[in-house]
Amino acid sequence: MKTYTIPVIPGDGIGPEVIAEGRKVLDRAATLHNFAIEWKEFSLGADHYLKTGELVSPETLKALGAHKALYFGAVGDERVPPGILEKGIILALRYHFDQFINLRPTRVFPNVKTPVRFKENAQVDFVIVRENTEDFYIDTGGHAPKGNSSSTLNVHRALYDFTLDAKIESSSEQIAFQLGLASREGLHRVLRYAFQLAQKRRKKLAMVDKANVITHIYGFWRDEFARMSREFPDIQTEVYYADALAALLVLQPEHYDVIVAPNLFGDILSDLGAAIAGSMGLAAGANLNPHGTSMFEPVHGTAPTLRGLHRANPIATIWAGALMLDFLGEFPAATSVMRAIEQSLAESGVRTPDLGGSSTTEQLGDEISRLLKP
Ligand code: IPM
Ligand code: MN
Repeated sequence: MKTYTIPVIPGDGIGPEVIAEGRKVLDRAATLHNFAIEWKEFSLGADHYLKTGELVSPETLKALGAHKALYFGAVGDERVPPGILEKGIILALRYHFDQFINLRPTRVFPNVKTPVRFKENAQVDFVIVRENTEDFYIDTGGHAPKGNSSSTLNVHRALYDFTLDAKIESSSEQIAFQLGLASREGLHRVLRYAFQLAQKRRKKLAMVDKANVITHIYGFWRDEFARMSREFPDIQTEVYYADALAALLVLQPEHYDVIVAPNLFGDILSDLGAAIAGSMGLAAGANLNPHGTSMFEPVHGTAPTLRGLHRANPIATIWAGALMLDFLGEFPAATSVMRAIEQSLAESGVRTPDLGGSSTTEQLGDEISRLLKP
């Protein structure tokens, strides 16, 4: 029997609770579709960091890199200052494995209450293709004191290395600065992916930027987008400023199909997508490197107020698992997981409190497993 070895990183907060349900559903889907998953647990996160001072060791990166797919819960903890675990683990993994696509689907499922209104009989079903290695996420910047100083900023990526030597003269008490970046290679790969995804869907692609203000980086996005759109005459394209798109996503969410976004706007708009879907517990994500190691995770993070309460909605994590099965080429199994999620939302009384129910995380995991079909 075909067996996949998949490293799993449950992490912090509700991560372990939702990952347990994801594993349960994927294991049953595998059995029904004649393959097996061997999970290899890695205990990255706050406890490991507080005990050892280590975020992700080179040995761990090597071990993870031997696999096509990683299953990830969430990291972050109030005992650790914000940014350390997020940058040291999630972003470190995204960059190390050059996971340049962050795919984040939003759907309004039948029988799930959404806070937005849309045309009757229309469907809300869009995907954000978030660029995942550049933009204002590169963590390159510093603080300049009054007077003269200097700073060397480095960006190391699989695609290129970039160094900026800055001579600073400042009359302010203190300046904090942070660099954003877009590269032609980086733009081409994410735009091409988005156009190709649009070809497989409803052939509509919207691009989001802020080219009216942040002209260097987002002007570059616009130019490259316009250029690539000539290669895809079958795709209907639109460009939006991020502020305008935020409003329009609320006002006419059914209008959108594929949305390609720079890293920071993609981050913000994907939480908006989750809210439109009716719960953060319904937002799944995939960090993709089609030729390397990809990582599948819920968008919601650690949700510390829910930790240990067994109230967290596991659907985001289970859906991320379906994206993983799809990535591995197990299409019928992936489809059966999605059908089971849809069916549980449409007709069953098993719901977690975020969707107005009173079921536990485990009960919903059990219900979705039960609904799986061969
Ligand atoms: C997300 C999260 C992360 C991000 C953080 C935790 C680094 O908000 O996956 O959306 O900003 O990308
Ligand atoms: Mn986010």
